[in-house]
Amino acid sequence: MRVKILRQKAPDTDPYWEQFEYDGPMENSVAGVIDYLNYNDDIRTIDGKSTGRIIWDCACLQGVCGACAMVINGRPSLACETFLKNLKGKELVLQPLKKFPVIRDLSVDRSVIQDNLTKANVYIDSYQGADAREHGRQYLVAKCLKCGLCLEVCPNYVSGRSFYGAVFANDCYLVSGRNSDKSKKIGDIYNRYFAGGCSKALSCMEVCPMSIPTIASIAKMNSSR
Ligand code: SF4
Ligand code: FES
Repeated sequence: MRVKILRQKAPDTDPYWEQFEYDGPMENSVAGVIDYLNYNDDIRTIDGKSTGRIIWDCACLQGVCGACAMVINGRPSLACETFLKNLKGKELVLQPLKKFPVIRDLSVDRSVIQDNLTKANVYIDSYQGADAREHGRQYLVAKCLKCGLCLEVCPNYVSGRSFYGAVFANDCYLVSGRNSDKSKKIGDIYNRYFAGGCSKALSCMEVCPMSIPTIASIAKMNSSR
């Protein structure tokens, strides 16, 4: 199988494509393919040119850390949860997420996600307990990996602007439900950094690897405004 990877040597340098031949097991995930290509010290492109190891992020290899988010055959996905047998076509094309600064190759800097939550004060100051009626939904939302796939597909999210996307709206919902003293303040923050910018495209929900019901978080936040 041919593997095309958009590579970049350092931040703010020009990206370039390299192609590799993958002859490993077809049961592999995309993470497994990258590991396979990286296995030898002497890594060669399809033209026989010697090249360096492919840089990417991973920690858990089981869909719970969110580190391996990248664009796989045009779709933002987790590399460890995407299997070759489920891909269409004979080629595997890997690109870094486009909405975040590239550090190197497929590794990007997603610190903006946490920075936005911290800057907007979306965290629990004092835990007052979760509303029992909301508990099930809060449990689902708390599974967010902060992987950034929702921001990658969002037509309204642009880094540096004051719309912080689905990952932010979900945390607003969680914090306001568990820190009731702060819910009015979180409502104002939600209005400022989310409500006015969301066009309800909901592409965020299509790519979310944890199937987080963002629409329910939005509905809950909107109803408490
Ligand atoms: S809401 Fe889903 S897609 Fe967005 S950061 Fe959380 S887990 Fe990732
Ligand atoms: S390596 Fe943790 S989600 Fe893929």
